[in-house]
Amino acid sequence: MKLTTLLVCDAGLDKRQTIEDLIHSQNNLALIGTVAGGMAREQIASLHPKLVWIELSPAPVRGLSLLAELREAYPQLYFFVSYEVPDPELIRTAYRLGASDFLDAERWRTDLPAAVQSIMLKHQSESVSVAQGKVVAIFSPTGGIGATTITTNLAGYLSKHGETAIVDLDLQFGMVAHYLNLEPSFSLSTIDFSHTNFDATYLRNLMTKYDDKLSILAAPPELEDIGDIYAAQIQEILNTAKSEFKYVVVDLPKNLLDERAIASLDFADHVLVLTEYNWSAILNARKCLDTFKAHYNQEKLLLVINRSEWLPHDVLSECRANLNYPVFAEIPADAKTAKWVNNQGQIAPGHTALGKAMDSIARRFAGAEKLLLTAEGDKAAGFKLPGIFAKRK
Ligand SMILES: Nc1ncnc2c1ncn2[C@@H]1O[C@H](COP(=O)(O)OP(=O)(O)O)[C@@H](O)[C@H]1O
Ligand SMILES: [Mg+2]
Repeated sequence: MKLTTLLVCDAGLDKRQTIEDLIHSQNNLALIGTVAGGMAREQIASLHPKLVWIELSPAPVRGLSLLAELREAYPQLYFFVSYEVPDPELIRTAYRLGASDFLDAERWRTDLPAAVQSIMLKHQSESVSVAQGKVVAIFSPTGGIGATTITTNLAGYLSKHGETAIVDLDLQFGMVAHYLNLEPSFSLSTIDFSHTNFDATYLRNLMTKYDDKLSILAAPPELEDIGDIYAAQIQEILNTAKSEFKYVVVDLPKNLLDERAIASLDFADHVLVLTEYNWSAILNARKCLDTFKAHYNQEKLLLVINRSEWLPHDVLSECRANLNYPVFAEIPADAKTAKWVNNQGQIAPGHTALGKAMDSIARRFAGAEKLLLTAEGDKAAGFKLPGIFAKRK
């Protein structure tokens, strides 16, 4: 494994060349670019290095304030700071600001291997111990209930709690990019699984950013592109996304006989089954819950009612009785906001009914509020495909 490294250098060409050569001389470092201080933030956001090397000359104080700023924006990154001489004051400040190492031009040739080794060790132990993200799959057995609207808006609110990705697995008719008003250059069909480094960096390069905290992996733009994607690959994508993002929200297709959808349901930490209080939607939801609940426990399988409106008490009780499953959350009907957000590529504002409902669900997932009052014991995970898919690996 190599640490992708970005060099931030405002010093002259000679200094820059020397440091680039130093980085190239290290087997464990991969230089992915050199930028001026003013561009550092932007380039980190698009290149996703693991290590940032800041050369302090010609203006060390400015270099250190850049370090402070970048550390705050990207606390997960490692930083090396370098300078002509081992100035004690600069060294102290750099360490206080969170630099992993201070390298001075007099000794960096000899010191660098140990400095790299030390962050490699740290990196390895952190990657194992780092808490994996949560994968939330949104499934609606009935079309037009609002699955995609909930996907984008819930993801928008989850992104306030940690970096979030949306994976649009509605491979045929994916709408996530449209609802967020994005024009993705790449999609799920662009993925080359023979790519030797199918890792987070590769995945991120195929994603489109909505903002700093929210990225999407779009569905293929053409229908004919979807045949090439296999269930195992979907799991690989989700697995990589889960290791990189705090939350991964997946918009699923309606077709449950699709191996890729089932692979995602199995993989997800939470499956939101979406319905509304109307007769046919309830019947579909019931059918789906009856099957799912044999495989997934109540922490995983969550029933959400969308577009809920006032109903007489007896009608409401009948609806709930027919669903025969505890309701995790109800999202009020808010057609005005729903239409507006989808047309404008926005996330529902916090003062709207839709926004409030999304905020509340996001908080429950983020652990700020309790997810469930009662939880059943673990059920055997895994959903068996019907006989026609018996050949599954
Ligand atoms: N809570 C809500 N209140 C009112 N309308 C909603 C709500 N959620 C979604 N909608 C509307 O429902 C329609 C279908 O939404 P969409 O997200 O595309 O559904 P699906 O992905 O399930 O097919 C859209 O017109 C959307 O604006
Ligand atoms: Mg949809």
